[in-house]
Amino acid sequence: MKHTITLIPGDGIGPEVSAAVKKIISAAGVDIAWDEIAARAEIERRGLDFMQAGVLESIRKNKVALKGPLTTAVVGGPPSINVALRKALDLYANVRPVKNLEGVQSRFLGVDLVLIRENTEDLYSGLEHTVVPGVVESLKIITEKASTRIARFAFEFARKYGRKKIHAVHKANIMKLSDGLFLTCCRKVAEEYKDIEYKELIIDNACMQMVLNPHQFDMLVLTNLYGDIMSDLAAGLVGGLGVVPSGNMGETVAVFEAVHGTAPDIAGKDIANPTALLMSAILMLRHVNEVSAAKRMEDSLHTVYKEGKHLTRDVGGSASTTEFTETVIRTMKA
Ligand code: NAI
Repeated sequence: MKHTITLIPGDGIGPEVSAAVKKIISAAGVDIAWDEIAARAEIERRGLDFMQAGVLESIRKNKVALKGPLTTAVVGGPPSINVALRKALDLYANVRPVKNLEGVQSRFLGVDLVLIRENTEDLYSGLEHTVVPGVVESLKIITEKASTRIARFAFEFARKYGRKKIHAVHKANIMKLSDGLFLTCCRKVAEEYKDIEYKELIIDNACMQMVLNPHQFDMLVLTNLYGDIMSDLAAGLVGGLGVVPSGNMGETVAVFEAVHGTAPDIAGKDIANPTALLMSAILMLRHVNEVSAAKRMEDSLHTVYKEGKHLTRDVGGSASTTEFTETVIRTMKA
């Protein structure tokens, strides 16, 4: 079956890692017509704004996108395109599986958990203003609708993928109204899923528990900010952002992306590691029911890591992006 999928190559190392992933998907025999968005620099050279260059229309039409990293200025400048895309497409659930990749040095072995992060509200609503010079107010928005929706997503995900336990993570002891509402919604939804064990943890304790013993967790559901921080923390337990995937899911569309940034320090040098985008593409292929191709790619990636002879520098090897990509393809065909 032929798929049409939007590809946003992104900035910095984005075009290199997305070209590598395209090659591997094609070698796995998946028939994809890529609806490729031009590089941001090219769009801006034409005097257009990235969000006005047909990106949203393409994703809405194709329902699925693979996205490379996009640059965001740290202070000042326009708001993050990553956040804008999630908002415009209502990609309300950020799915972050965290699992060891044999061959990657890490603090723990046998970690296998999934974090579900609410992606649209909380302190990411972008509602900030200066009250008086020197005093800034930033609004934390928590709604019953979004909290119920993310809780339901987490429980449905658990059922679909055979997970057994969900921890809701919060700070309702301090933010009694906002995190309290999130918790109330999680409890209500949990009532409908008696087959899944439901637990609660305060965010600071959850962080400590995660670094002490990640094996106690199966799935976590979190509001936006806690989810952002804790999903990177969890990734750090298995080797970092270079070896974990992510998917941003809405009711009708899904955008899969690596969670690392544009890595401007190594862009254009053929040394970037495409693993995180490749793993995100594997999630994407499962989402579009290309299950056996996804498995072939995953098996090949695991073999290449286990052998450890053709890995990129960030994970202790010396291979180029090209060499790593060719090895994954060769292994898949062997
Ligand atoms: P970064 O992830 O780009 O880089 C941090 C370090 O990790 C650098 O040393 C970099 O070389 C290395 N690194 C990252 N990805 C790598 C890969 N695939 N292979 C090998 N090494 C890799 O984070 P940083 O420097 O904080 O952000 C740079 C830019 O990326 C910023 O403009 C930021 O806003 C943007 N960004 C975009 C994201 C997205 O589009 N989803 C996510 C995070 C950051």
